[in-house]
Amino acid sequence: MACYSEENIVITVTIIMLLFIVDKYAYQDLPTLYEYYTEGGIESGLSDNKTYFTLNSKNITILSGSLHYFRVPKVYWRDRLRKLRAAGLNSVETYIPWNLHEHQNGVFDFGNGGSDFEEFLDVAHFLNLAKEEDLFVILRPGPYICAEWEFGGLPSWLLRYKDIKVRTSEKQFMKFASRYLEKLFEIISPLQFTKGGAIIAVQVENEYGNTKYGDQPVDVIYLEQLKNVFLQNGIVELLFTSDTPSNGFYGTIPGVLATANFQNDSIHELTVLKAHQPRKPLMVAEYWTGWYDHWTESHHTRSVEEFGRVLDGILTFGASVNMYMFHGGTNWGFLNGADVNDLSRDNKGFQPVITTYDYNAPLSEAGDYTDKYYRAKDIIARHNKIKIKQPDMPKLTRRIAYPSINITGELSLADLLDQSQGFPMKHVQPMESLPINNGSGQSYGYIIYRTSNIDIPRDSILKIKGRVCDTVLVLLNGKLKSKILESKEDLEGFGYWKKRDAVLSLGGATENAVLELVVENWGRVNYGKLFQFNQHKGLWQGDVLLNNQILEFEKVFPLEFKRSWNSKIKNWVSPKFSSGPKLYKAILKIEHEPHDTYIDTREWNKGFIIVNGFVLGRYLRLGSQQTLYLPAPFLKKGFNDILVFEHFSPSEQLQFSENLIFT
Ligand SMILES: *[C@@H]1O[C@H](CO)[C@@H](O)[C@H](O)[C@H]1NC(C)=O
Ligand SMILES: *[C@@H]1O[C@H](CO)[C@@H](O)[C@H](O)[C@H]1NC(C)=O
Ligand SMILES: *[C@@H]1O[C@H](CO)[C@@H](O)[C@H](O)[C@H]1NC(C)=O
Ligand SMILES: *[C@@H]1O[C@H](CO)[C@@H](O)[C@H](O)[C@H]1NC(C)=O
Ligand SMILES: *[C@@H]1O[C@H](CO)[C@@H](O)[C@H](O)[C@H]1NC(C)=O
Repeated sequence: MACYSEENIVITVTIIMLLFIVDKYAYQDLPTLYEYYTEGGIESGLSDNKTYFTLNSKNITILSGSLHYFRVPKVYWRDRLRKLRAAGLNSVETYIPWNLHEHQNGVFDFGNGGSDFEEFLDVAHFLNLAKEEDLFVILRPGPYICAEWEFGGLPSWLLRYKDIKVRTSEKQFMKFASRYLEKLFEIISPLQFTKGGAIIAVQVENEYGNTKYGDQPVDVIYLEQLKNVFLQNGIVELLFTSDTPSNGFYGTIPGVLATANFQNDSIHELTVLKAHQPRKPLMVAEYWTGWYDHWTESHHTRSVEEFGRVLDGILTFGASVNMYMFHGGTNWGFLNGADVNDLSRDNKGFQPVITTYDYNAPLSEAGDYTDKYYRAKDIIARHNKIKIKQPDMPKLTRRIAYPSINITGELSLADLLDQSQGFPMKHVQPMESLPINNGSGQSYGYIIYRTSNIDIPRDSILKIKGRVCDTVLVLLNGKLKSKILESKEDLEGFGYWKKRDAVLSLGGATENAVLELVVENWGRVNYGKLFQFNQHKGLWQGDVLLNNQILEFEKVFPLEFKRSWNSKIKNWVSPKFSSGPKLYKAILKIEHEPHDTYIDTREWNKGFIIVNGFVLGRYLRLGSQQTLYLPAPFLKKGFNDILVFEHFSPSEQLQFSENLIFT
């Protein structure tokens, strides 16, 4: 029973007062960012009217970090934002991917649209969380975003329109881009700073000046038209463009702030920017903290010393900064982008990007603090004159290596195709042309061209004219005929994009045979050559010949590996582990709450992994990446289905690792 004596009351009051004082002391009685910048009401947003930025008439140095919500599980958005804020940053920057938000022509998903990526797409929620975590937001809605993301964020269904000219004022492209931006800005506009939200600046297009060095004309009318779409749809905050100053200012428009993107020579780049825009504040829209890898490259890193030296240089110069990336995340599913390393227009120089977007950034893919994080925190604390309440660094999320599990089921390609819909097709056509997805065609995954009842004499030669987009496996009566991938040199031969008009000898004679060509889309190019470079996927560059006779196909099968389909795959048989493309199944039983983990793919060769219906990402033994991040929110207590689509040579087990491993 409680005893309400006078002494007890005095003691209680004293304790409460002490706690109050301790609390005040701990937080040094500092205002939050929003308290500081909105004190007395909001009269104006971010302004570039002087040689320094003001926000609501108070000086501000933008200290920002890039974090793409679509590369991070929704459950972790708050954690990552708080970690960013705890480093002393006052802003977060994100791109917005058109290809996910309008996944089919005229069909949108902003978090409840029912697409496979639905749970990543509640952009309004992300923007509200940023505000709750005391951060301002810099938004880069594209419509082209680069970002090492599939087709630079453009939806593949655009390719169904003949003569469309993406990233130009061409009518078809502008019509689709405007329709999408109108939908997006309906959601975004109320979340701008002067309307009480978090957004303080919005970028027009992305590195548009670089088109000067690509394969398309610099279309300044396009930038003007885009800007007008922004203004007409309620965007009122500061607009800006971003490019590397030493490349020239081809992508700028009058009345829109030019900013800088670079990695190293801050003094030179900022001096060039200042000369171009002497009466404006200086802003680095992308300061590259690290870099990304293409498959088969060795892993790129950037030293903490270099990183810190240049960051310090930028702030000493008096510029604002956005660190690209501060937290990179993951290229889930089939959504990695690619580069082309030469001027070829036929896929010759194609270089797909790996699954992790760790980027060697201050916060790792799995949300760990790195030495760069601590260096950034120190440098910012030294430069930042405005004292604002800052959260403590959140505790790390536990990560474990689950015990290995056995593969318990297998499905051949034929078994998979039995469970999917085929379409008649005589001559090869790209995946985008298929009559699926409500008239939007196939965007991602694999396309299988099949013919049957053919007689194949001994030593027959199969020839694919042009280049494949991007890899092909040849099956004769279900048996793999093309070579098992063993080395980087193999990528120069039959089966890969690098070889034009490649040929394969089919060996012994076969009658009444079924011939299948399994073609993989390894990610559309996101940078540089989006204009004349044809981004269609599958076989379409030329005919397929058998002993110099044009081969006619019967059917084509899209294998998109969508969540709803993946969850219904059946008829598993016990595994035989023979070579060739097959789907394998393992079950991960989790007794308690799930933890973050990595799947170790070192015993596998090439393919991708599906977890509880969701395509996690691709793997390749040739590297660089050897483990795939599997965050706890994708797992559940109980039985978890893990499927592995392997092109060549399976392992009998699936292993786990605590960490991201590179070759
Ligand atoms: C910047 O200057 C322009 C023109 O003088 C003015 O209309 C605008 O309100 C100013 N913006 C801010 C945010 O102060
Ligand atoms: C804002 O920054 C400018 C440029 O550094 C400086 O001259 C001015 O005194 C600052 N204003 C305040 C209120 O600190
Ligand atoms: C099919 O696309 C049209 C627009 O092209 C859209 O209005 C309609 O809702 C879509 N249907 C489905 C089932 O998604
Ligand atoms: C970066 O720039 C500095 C000079 O500003 C130069 O000494 C250094 O070699 C450069 N580093 C790289 C990796 O280019
Ligand atoms: C996994 O497979 C190995 C080899 O076939 C077998 O010895 C082991 O018992 C299996 N483990 C489980 C959990 O079934």
